[in-house]
Amino acid sequence: MAIRGKHILLGVCGSIAAYKAAHLIRLLKKDGASVQVIMTPDAADFITPLTLSTLSGNPVLTTYADRERGTWNNHVHLALQADAIVVAPVSANTLAKFANGICDNLLCAVYLSAKSSVFLAPAMDLDMWAHPATKANISRLQQAGNLIIPPGNGPLASGLSGEGRLAEPEDILAFLTNHFDESRPLTGKKALVTAGPTHEAIDPVRYIGNHSSGKMGYALATELMRLGASVTLVSGPSDLPKPTGLANFLPVTSAAEMLEQCVANFNDADITVMSAAVADYTPKVTATQKIKKATAGLTLELKKTVDILATLGSQKKISQVLVGFALETNDEQANAIAKLQKKNLDFIALNSMQDKGAGFAGDNNKVTIIHRSGTIEALDLKPKSEVARDICTRIIALLP
Ligand code: CTP
Repeated sequence: MAIRGKHILLGVCGSIAAYKAAHLIRLLKKDGASVQVIMTPDAADFITPLTLSTLSGNPVLTTYADRERGTWNNHVHLALQADAIVVAPVSANTLAKFANGICDNLLCAVYLSAKSSVFLAPAMDLDMWAHPATKANISRLQQAGNLIIPPGNGPLASGLSGEGRLAEPEDILAFLTNHFDESRPLTGKKALVTAGPTHEAIDPVRYIGNHSSGKMGYALATELMRLGASVTLVSGPSDLPKPTGLANFLPVTSAAEMLEQCVANFNDADITVMSAAVADYTPKVTATQKIKKATAGLTLELKKTVDILATLGSQKKISQVLVGFALETNDEQANAIAKLQKKNLDFIALNSMQDKGAGFAGDNNKVTIIHRSGTIEALDLKPKSEVARDICTRIIALLP
């Protein structure tokens, strides 16, 4: 376990989600880390220091001075001792202080004295999270090298629902474990993966879609994370549970939305794998109201979507690895080779609809990997998790 023996300094801010800090401490301790908790003054309104000191096995610190013991909590020493500083939950207020160097409590002073990696797991209401001021603070903190553990989407303490929930303690642990596991070949690498189908709206209730389940893309995202990469998953509509430990989960509906997210994240990605079954055509016009069955027949006019993979291929740098999929029913290899060349890929994973037991919804897949060099490898039918492993092995071999 990569986190065994590590000393984690856990900052806890005033937020309803502070209760999750208790579970996070248990997970960290179970995996062999030692934990020192520092609470902001407001955090004690949400969870008692007694709970967190009992679970961590260390007194919880909040102020510079401990008047009862007549001692001073040395912020520089606390920061230097830590193998990682994790603030979970970090409130909008503390994010703003960190981003601007404000130092009005012990946690802020420790943050400013940090030499180790700093992980920030925000928790706040959806509008606070979406506010341009918060976004600007996050971007500034990221530029300064802080690692953001993105909040999840779901019910919030306010009764509203949306983005802003503190990441689950298991996700936070996965982030830390990834960070410390230097034995993994993709540690420090960023990966972008697309998965699932896209839905192209015809009117407010109907769409053009396909049978892609997202299983292959989710398996790839999971495998890339297991190998140490920091993974952004852009997913079309899928019923699958979100893989644990993602750096970014970007759910999208249409090909246009998927294009936007891919273009925004491609430049930073060392590895990009496009396994999504993107619609090639979308309605020219999306009706704003439900189309009534007024006539005997209906003709829909479609327009081409942008080829996302080809777009990325045209921007690809030599250091980036770009992998695509090809789904073919006939002239499989010739068609796949044409796609590989046209889209400027390092290799393409060819799925043939002729192969029994492989394909969209199942748990197995059979792919033929065609490399830019011309090498062709026909792999056996196997679980998608193993296909993901095979693909990642080839990706690792290509990395500079
Ligand atoms: N792809 C894409 N954007 C599109 C269509 C496809 O990024 N608008 C990507 C897919 O994610 C896949 C690869 O391109 O990695 C090949 O997809 P496929 O459907 O097999 O081929 P197309 O290029 O769409 O060509 P055709 O449908 O004519 O076979």
